[in-house]
Amino acid sequence: MSGASTFEGRRIVLIVSGGIAAYKAIEVCRRLVDAGAHVSPVMTTGATRFVGEATFSALASEPVQRSLWDEASPIPHTRLGQGADLVIVAPATARIIGSYAAGISDGLATATLLATRAPVLVCPAMHTEMWEHPAVQDNLATLRRRGVSLVEPGEGRLAGGDVGAGRLADPEVIVAAAERLLTHQDLAGTRVLVTAGGTSEPIDPVRVITNRSTGRQGYALAAEAAARGAEVVLVTTVSDPVPPGVSTVGCATTAAELRDTVVAHADTCDVVIMAAAVADFRPSAPSVPKMKKRDGLPIIELEATTDVLSELVQRRALGQVIVGFAAETNDVVANAREKLLAKGADVIVANDVSRSDTGFGVPTNAATILVAGSDDVNVPLCSKRDLARSILDVVVSLRAGSGSA
Ligand code: CTP
Repeated sequence: MSGASTFEGRRIVLIVSGGIAAYKAIEVCRRLVDAGAHVSPVMTTGATRFVGEATFSALASEPVQRSLWDEASPIPHTRLGQGADLVIVAPATARIIGSYAAGISDGLATATLLATRAPVLVCPAMHTEMWEHPAVQDNLATLRRRGVSLVEPGEGRLAGGDVGAGRLADPEVIVAAAERLLTHQDLAGTRVLVTAGGTSEPIDPVRVITNRSTGRQGYALAAEAAARGAEVVLVTTVSDPVPPGVSTVGCATTAAELRDTVVAHADTCDVVIMAAAVADFRPSAPSVPKMKKRDGLPIIELEATTDVLSELVQRRALGQVIVGFAAETNDVVANAREKLLAKGADVIVANDVSRSDTGFGVPTNAATILVAGSDDVNVPLCSKRDLARSILDVVVSLRAGSGSA
């Protein structure tokens, strides 16, 4: 399972129907192709009134198809439908939803939908009145009952200056939903808590002691767990947008705040992953007014913070899997093994943070995953998402071994 992206080599038919939101499908197409998918675009005649065919032909993996009759193959719909790993309709108008629900094949798009056994993801977009109309809602209920997946539209600005429900979901939400449909849901029914980022400890109202963590590895773990079907709770010190399907809880700037938030939520989680770089010491008496240069060099007395990972192990719920990281600059694996024993976690991810291509603030990482009572797993240089995949593979096997999966 580890290695290439979920989308690598997967064949996706992207059906674009005629709505103002067709422009957002361009971004969906680009993201899927960038992630390694083979995207075959199909546009309805209505869609071509909103965006250019040339745009999709240039961005997708093959030229746009529009009709049952303009291709060399006499049966383009069965070729597309049978060869697809996934069919996405974005945007899906009330008309295409109605035809699909009624089983009416009135063009290449609907013929392809009826000719496929691949999962189908429908992303509706229309005016609020149409979205709320019982005919549309009944058709969507029919599609849902038949196993079609939906990405609910959001609220916001619609064509013509109107505001309300019916706005096409954001491209990243659509791509995340597509990813879930292509991913083995081996964390379904599992609640996973992930911490991300570095804590900051105040010296005075303007100065802090912090570290170089940017939260990327924690965010990658949260996104990967969500793609595999987990309910994900993220405790983060950074304000980057949260991956689709992930919710954040609490406030976590200092080690104490992070500890309180984690402890408040950990009991209800099956898996806890401490990817955050938590401060080990903090100023024992932060100055209330800003420290002034004129007062000379300050002496800052430090005190220890709570070791959250060790505390979690002490209070762990039955069957809970606890994963920690070891941020090391030397004797990486030996130091990490010491932490595995000292902290009592199930897994410690040994991370060399002294290299320029692994650790803090870079998109790539490499690690040795140490598992209590089992063999180490070496993960060579890869994206942080790929390392997240390997870590969660270990988590899944531990849960299966304990009979909790
Ligand atoms: N950790 C924690 N609470 C702390 C410090 C660290 O929960 N106060 C967690 C980190 O989230 C990580 C693991 O413990 O999962 C190891 O963190 P690391 O910084 O590598 O090691 P430390 O325990 O801080 O030890 P040292 O700094 O001496 O290497």
